[in-house]
Amino acid sequence: MSQSHSHIPVTIAGTGSYVPEKVLTNADLEKLVDTSDEWITTRTGIRERRIAADDEFTSHMAVKASLKALEQAGMEASELDLIIVATITPDTLTPATACYVQKELGAMTAVAFDISAACSGFLYGMKIAKRLISDGAFKNALIIGAEKLSSFINWEDRNTCILFGDGAGAAVLRQSREGEGHIIATDIGTDGNQTHLLNIPGGGSACPITTENADQRLASLAMLGKEVFKHAVTRMRDSAKTVMARAGLKPEDIKLVVPHQANLRIIDAIADRLDVPSDRVFTNLQKYGNTSAAAVAIALDEAHREGRFTRGDKIVLVVFGAGFTWASATIEW
Ligand code: UT7
Repeated sequence: MSQSHSHIPVTIAGTGSYVPEKVLTNADLEKLVDTSDEWITTRTGIRERRIAADDEFTSHMAVKASLKALEQAGMEASELDLIIVATITPDTLTPATACYVQKELGAMTAVAFDISAACSGFLYGMKIAKRLISDGAFKNALIIGAEKLSSFINWEDRNTCILFGDGAGAAVLRQSREGEGHIIATDIGTDGNQTHLLNIPGGGSACPITTENADQRLASLAMLGKEVFKHAVTRMRDSAKTVMARAGLKPEDIKLVVPHQANLRIIDAIADRLDVPSDRVFTNLQKYGNTSAAAVAIALDEAHREGRFTRGDKIVLVVFGAGFTWASATIEW
């Protein structure tokens, strides 16, 4: 029996990531704000993060990650017909960062657009691309999570400036071929009642930056950390459980969980609630902090290149961010 279009399986043919050269350590932050390496390490797990150069934009990092993903997929940029960039730190408010990426890659037959779903954007993009490929609308898609958060941080606010970093991760999606794995199940969700807990209040149409408010740093990330923490644990646990159930997977079937990289305590809490031991949960926030949409994409690429999973293994991706937004995927590699 031939498969219906909606069931054409979609695989991840390649992953790539890029982080800027400049390292900002906890010791460096001790010189900027009233904090300590000890506080940051015990409360978050973060030891250092990367900071993009002044002339290094979100699109530049996205392109570098994408070239690695394309190379691994054995695909030319000219073969792409879809590029989705997930970012909350676009090069410009318009046009979309995806347009700069398309030009730089020379992917001139690709449709390119951005999505704004904060830390969940890469998996929102994965769901959209998967569906458009399995529908037969597109063949080859590039999904990217890329952020230059350092441009939207108040470097005098110790509640936020210790948490975030810059970077990009990418994945090439296409129809699965004989013997290849596929994205088994995806789940995405949103709770717009919680916009006040994590946001960048200024710089949009609701609150343009003016000479009168310029000194208030309103175009910087603001967060009520404790509240966000609680929602993050519950939503990620529930979402991961949903995709595991849809895929018929028990905790022992999961080779690796690749979660959003915001806080080691959040990751430990989720691992505990999913009954997955911590040696089967990937973390790299120690090196990069929270890079929002880029975080799970970079983590997926690093775990893949380190051989933490291989063909046939089942993995779970799970994320949470401003909005609130959350998302998960189960993948047979
Ligand atoms: O990517 C989107 C998702 N984001 C997240 O998931 C982030 C979720 N939240 C968190 O990761 C944690 O809530 C934080 C790491 C942001 C904060 O940790 P916490 O354990 O919730 O600490 P807290 O905010 O309750 O602050 C505890 C104390 C406070 O002092 P008092 O009021 O107890 O005297 C803070 O003023 O720690 C103080 N504090 C700091 N001290 C040293 C806050 N930031 C710092 C700092 N250095 N950087």
